[in-house]
Amino acid sequence: MTEALPAAVAAIRNGLLVALPTETVYGLAADALDPQAVLRIFTAKGRPRFDPLIVHVPDAAAAWQVAVPSPRAERLAAACWPGPLTLVLPRRACVPDLVTSGLPTVGVRVPDHPLALALLRSCGRPLAAPSANPFGRVSPTTADHVREQLGAAVAVVLDGGPCRVGVESTVLRPDPVPLILRPGGLTRERLEALLGEPVALAGAGERADSLPREAPGLLASHYAPKIPLSLKGPADPWPQRPGAVRLAFRAGGDAVLSSAGDLAEAAAGLFAVLRRLEGSGAQEIIAETVPEQGLGLAINDRLRRAAGLGAT
Ligand code: TXA
Ligand code: MG
Repeated sequence: MTEALPAAVAAIRNGLLVALPTETVYGLAADALDPQAVLRIFTAKGRPRFDPLIVHVPDAAAAWQVAVPSPRAERLAAACWPGPLTLVLPRRACVPDLVTSGLPTVGVRVPDHPLALALLRSCGRPLAAPSANPFGRVSPTTADHVREQLGAAVAVVLDGGPCRVGVESTVLRPDPVPLILRPGGLTRERLEALLGEPVALAGAGERADSLPREAPGLLASHYAPKIPLSLKGPADPWPQRPGAVRLAFRAGGDAVLSSAGDLAEAAAGLFAVLRRLEGSGAQEIIAETVPEQGLGLAINDRLRRAAGLGAT
């Protein structure tokens, strides 16, 4: 693990791609200030150029070199970084257009993982990194997931073990009023407590209207398993269909997200279980939604998108 770090630093300096462990999901990282390196990310993922990348930095001071902070941003950075929060802020001129898809803003975050922070500090460059999956597929939460799907495109895979949070960061536009563009690993409740004001969740209509400019990752088909996935509410009976596997929240399915009913445990295992079920030989997945609170917002959002339903 530690021998891989110098190789990863060298790869980044040479404009190559590194698979980066974070607390949320694995990222596919390149030097954010080198447009040619960033272009390799889009090519490797098959990602449309209109979908902007998140820039990863080792601390808030480094964040303010690529983005212009505001009082809300500084407050959240101090309380939440390192952690699963991406702030969408006005960009500085050093950030290539390719990173932001030409938007006047940039998404920036400090990942909470020792290997990610070690790489960021050692290479001394901000790293652009989307989730390390081919576009439209389930995000990777282990180094093996990355090797299976993108191994050939990556110079070095840094193996930091399974991701602790398991769903991507919360993407927040803090100003002029706080708006969650993508629910994720940091809860809305926590953001509201920290800011002392309401935090809105971009609604389906709002997101659709704003595509692809506002939050392109919110395309309805963004997280698609290989076999059809449909949803059932907690009170609904399980549909009886041959060839279907049932993914339950606590109990009653062929697989469960958390028998203790713990949303953090459910989030941590979500993408790995979806991968397992899509490769299980079943013809379809029926997934039960979880309570719409805390991390449940992010889990239900990913399940709805896996079902092709888009957000909320
Ligand atoms: O947890 C995460 O955020 C992971 C890890 C690797 O850090 N990264 C991640 O990146 O999920 P990605 O590319 O899969 O999702 C990035 C999303 C975009 O699709 C978009 O919705 C939003 O972040 N985003 C990035 N920059 C933005 C901007 N300037 N304005 C609005 N949304 C932005
Ligand atoms: Mg992604």
